[in-house]
Amino acid sequence: MTPTSQQRPIGVFDSGIGGLSVLRALQAELPHERFVYLADSGHAPYGERGDAYVAARTHAITRYLQAVHGIKALVVACNTATAAAIHDVRTQCPDLPLVGLEPAIKPAVALSRTGRIGVIGTRGTLTSGKFALLLGSLQSQAEFVVQPCDGLAYAIERSTEHAVPDAAESSEVRELCTRYITAMGAFGTTAGHIDTLVLGCTHYVFAEEELRALIGPAVRLVDTGEPVARQTRRLLQATDLLADPGDEIPAACNRMQLITTGSLLPLQAAAQRWLQLPARCCSTATVPADGAGAMAHEANRALAQ
Ligand code: DGL
Repeated sequence: MTPTSQQRPIGVFDSGIGGLSVLRALQAELPHERFVYLADSGHAPYGERGDAYVAARTHAITRYLQAVHGIKALVVACNTATAAAIHDVRTQCPDLPLVGLEPAIKPAVALSRTGRIGVIGTRGTLTSGKFALLLGSLQSQAEFVVQPCDGLAYAIERSTEHAVPDAAESSEVRELCTRYITAMGAFGTTAGHIDTLVLGCTHYVFAEEELRALIGPAVRLVDTGEPVARQTRRLLQATDLLADPGDEIPAACNRMQLITTGSLLPLQAAAQRWLQLPARCCSTATVPADGAGAMAHEANRALAQ
């Protein structure tokens, strides 16, 4: 039976496993929805690759998710891809409900007491025109310490390559966190200290333990998972695309389909570790820059099965 518009899945994508932090919030907020998550791990990291590359990947993945999975809406669970391409995707797909991510510095202003706010993210996000505009609109209300963290998303990505974190990989994440947090100055709740740290990259949520150990227990960590999940609900409601809450909640892999353009094992390990999903919910796909190629490839795969 052809699914109704409301029963079609929501597409979610990131350069890799970082967007699983957003998917976790989405599934909690929208328990009756189906999701197709695309981790572009075969092309990660995005953060240091430049806008043209990230925009081309974003377009290819959007076309793939529409053509092969018939998504009803798209959540770009990646700050870097949002900064590089969301404007163009909106123009090219005017009928696709679209939610993007940006570092949550506005909520951070409301939370901060010292008025000194730290922002960490990829170089791509933090040097983008989009972020400059956002920062400019709030600069009179707080002081921002902005720190690009080259290599951190990729180190987090690699640290999931084994079900039990490998000591060397975990220590690389710890070392990078230490280097960047130390460079930002003093954290704490007294005057002159950074009392709020914005995680401007979805991967960093998975380094929360390492970051917390460095900034101390009283500093607030702000990420975008929950606000984005609420925004997605509002958008689906406004476009009459919300799944019927009377429908049964679909079973695990029916509800959550996770696909990677890289190796399967890291995605399976991450899905198990952070979403308690069985390995069978994960699969691989090739998403070439040309979306038609992706469709042909998937069609061939389907025929071969
Ligand atoms: N997780 C992504 C973000 O939110 C990008 C990480 C990367 O690939 O560099 O920006």
